[in-house]
Amino acid sequence: MKKILSGIQPSGKLHIGNYFGMMKTMIDRMETSDLYVFIVDLHALTSVHDRDRLRQGTLEASADFLALGLDPERCTFWVQSDLPEVCELTWILSTITPMGLLERCHSFKDKTAKGIAPSHGLFSYPVLMAADILLFQADIVPVGKDQKQHLEVARDIAIKFNNTFGLTFVVPEPAIDENLATVPGLDGQKMSKSYNNTIPIFVEDKALRKTVMSVQTDSTPVEEPKNPDTCNLYALLKLFMAPDRLAEIRNLYVNGGAAYGHIKLELFELIRDYFAGAREKKKELLANPDYLRQVLASGADKARRKAIVTLDLVRDRVGLKY
Ligand code: ADP
Ligand code: TRP
Repeated sequence: MKKILSGIQPSGKLHIGNYFGMMKTMIDRMETSDLYVFIVDLHALTSVHDRDRLRQGTLEASADFLALGLDPERCTFWVQSDLPEVCELTWILSTITPMGLLERCHSFKDKTAKGIAPSHGLFSYPVLMAADILLFQADIVPVGKDQKQHLEVARDIAIKFNNTFGLTFVVPEPAIDENLATVPGLDGQKMSKSYNNTIPIFVEDKALRKTVMSVQTDSTPVEEPKNPDTCNLYALLKLFMAPDRLAEIRNLYVNGGAAYGHIKLELFELIRDYFAGAREKKKELLANPDYLRQVLASGADKARRKAIVTLDLVRDRVGLKY
């Protein structure tokens, strides 16, 4: 069975773009792969310097995953900082990582341009990410397009290490699903918390309704034909609506009669119902943080048993075992 691994940052309120772009694809792989999912709080520390926000963000992100259907019994699910092995491996890898490789990374430039302080941690972010991946000898790493370069760095580091010290690491393959449509936001741009155009998953009905009613549409009158394939509202509808009802709506777009207000209301109801169970589950989970901590602690144990095998080999390869 292939080892599939991916991490997410514990930052911000989960939106339907995150769900369809990343979480759902990971959760769906639970049955058919050896799955590793973790919350990257050490990475988040490069941009979040607020104790309560980071702590709460980590608990929320774990509740999000469990509420949406990740079964910790059928995968390995943990919080990055619970495994000190990852920091040790980061250091060892950083001693063979060329400066030039990191200097070329767009993400560092983008983040500092946005005002995040250019710390050493932010600069070496890709080395920590390589350690995350190589520690578990992952075969496949599903990531968004923005992480493609970081994955190339991880591959380069693995190859350099193998060439320097002898075959040690699996060279991971990225899985970047180019077909996976980018979920559009309220304004039609990519849905992203940085654009303030998201439909959050875990909000009360009233707030959700208000958000969905604010999806931007054009001002074509109801009776006029409209093009569903360029309509932001229709793109969102496709994620949630049963095919037969979607075909009816498509017909209204093409032949006239599509009333945006009614369609938005229908979309609101679909989203509400789709996530109703998850919303209840998340409330229960957050009401019992000790249970969450227990799940994460046993996930960390499981992850650690695998990590120490790799780290032991690495220590031996480089001469740290004497
Ligand atoms: P944001 O853009 O809101 O800051 P992140 O960059 O934290 O989101 O993304 C977390 C995960 O969700 C990544 O795997 C990313 O590829 C995915 N993702 C985020 N927004 C979208 C979107 N609009 N459509 C599809 N996937 C998305
Ligand atoms: N850098 C990734 C992001 O911001 C998160 C991440 C950290 C990650 N370590 C990873 C993703 C290892 C995949 C594998 O989205």
